[in-house]
Amino acid sequence: MSLVQETPRNQLCIVLVGLPARGKSTLALRLRDGLEAEGLAVRIFNNGNLRRTHYGERSSEPWFYDPHNAEGCRVREHLSLLNMRAAREYLDSEGNVAILDATNASRERRRLVEREMGGRPILYIECINDDPDLLAASIQRKTRLPEFAGISRDEAAKRFTQRIEYYRSIYVPLEEEDNFVRLDSLWNRIMAENLRRDIPNYVRVRDILVSDWVNNLYLVRHGETYFNQEGRIGGDSPLTLKGQAQARALADHFRNKAIPYIFTSGRLRSEQTALPLLVDHPESIVMTMPELDEIDGGLCSGMTYAEIREKYPEVYAARAKDKYNYCYPEGEGYASMRDRVGRGFRKALFLSGAAPGTLIIGHQAVNRMILAFFLYRQTVDVPYIYVPQDKYYHIVATHHKKLFELVRFMGPEI
Ligand code: F6P
Repeated sequence: MSLVQETPRNQLCIVLVGLPARGKSTLALRLRDGLEAEGLAVRIFNNGNLRRTHYGERSSEPWFYDPHNAEGCRVREHLSLLNMRAAREYLDSEGNVAILDATNASRERRRLVEREMGGRPILYIECINDDPDLLAASIQRKTRLPEFAGISRDEAAKRFTQRIEYYRSIYVPLEEEDNFVRLDSLWNRIMAENLRRDIPNYVRVRDILVSDWVNNLYLVRHGETYFNQEGRIGGDSPLTLKGQAQARALADHFRNKAIPYIFTSGRLRSEQTALPLLVDHPESIVMTMPELDEIDGGLCSGMTYAEIREKYPEVYAARAKDKYNYCYPEGEGYASMRDRVGRGFRKALFLSGAAPGTLIIGHQAVNRMILAFFLYRQTVDVPYIYVPQDKYYHIVATHHKKLFELVRFMGPEI
């Protein structure tokens, strides 16, 4: 009798691969939710959770991950074996897809998975992303994990960085493995695909890998500023009294909504709009994202449109003719800021992971660019998308749910 199992229910073991803080756990959740929505039985087997349950804070110390520490290696291999066996049992009982969520950094570890799976189909998915700023922000986020409670954020960041270095020292990218996908986990782009056998539900998996995934995005524009009042562009003007009232109304509106992540630009008006939100959401993680700064008006910064028309009539006319592609002298245009805003937005999504709610406090032009990622408008229309200061856009874009709505958060009287 063959030890190799038939795959009657389209059994599949997905093995995630990647250094810590590369978005593996977020991807695992996306895969689970997306495949479950297709009627499949899916379970995640996460080595980190098992480690925290069995070893708690003791395993937050870097020595635990040192490949020369025999005791640490033995413990980690034992934990990963427990998960592999649980995954196998799950597939042999009710499961369709088991996801092994761990670094699975070395070839030896991956050979172990293959032995334990005994011929059941395996798909490796390697998460890659080497953006240094994003890594630094991800590490900051990790320092808030319960396993680092009781030590300073700096010390936690040091420990986590050392942990990554230990994993890096044994890390071997996928190459020899029979079936794998290499994913840029910031942009959701497939960088390499190597399939040597039929992988059950691969089309569904692939579709999830490349899909945008936003649980609840609240896209807000900052409150009114003195520059807004005077019709001046750019600058770093603070909120007016009306702008402060808008910020408070926003906070009231979000009092009972989950917003674990709040992203602001580097501008005062964006940060000031975020402040009242923190009264009811002291645990929310607030991150400043300079990539979300408003379009740079260059020579025209601080001027009104009437002043631009008078002083630089050629600028005014050229912009009116092709607002999307036009670039302010020594400044930016919509087209030229597309990449930086896209990167900031992607980073925000990456860092907020599978959070139930993500709030971005952006600017008129910046929010138009973000909206354009969802609206698929012609570029010529993008610089005219409506971006009010008393309403926000609520966007849900998961594999199985799409929602796009404009929500008022304060009455028209204020
Ligand atoms: O007027 C507010 C503002 O955010 C300016 O800082 C910015 O230059 C402008 O909106 C962008 O909108 P538009 O592209 O329509 O000029």
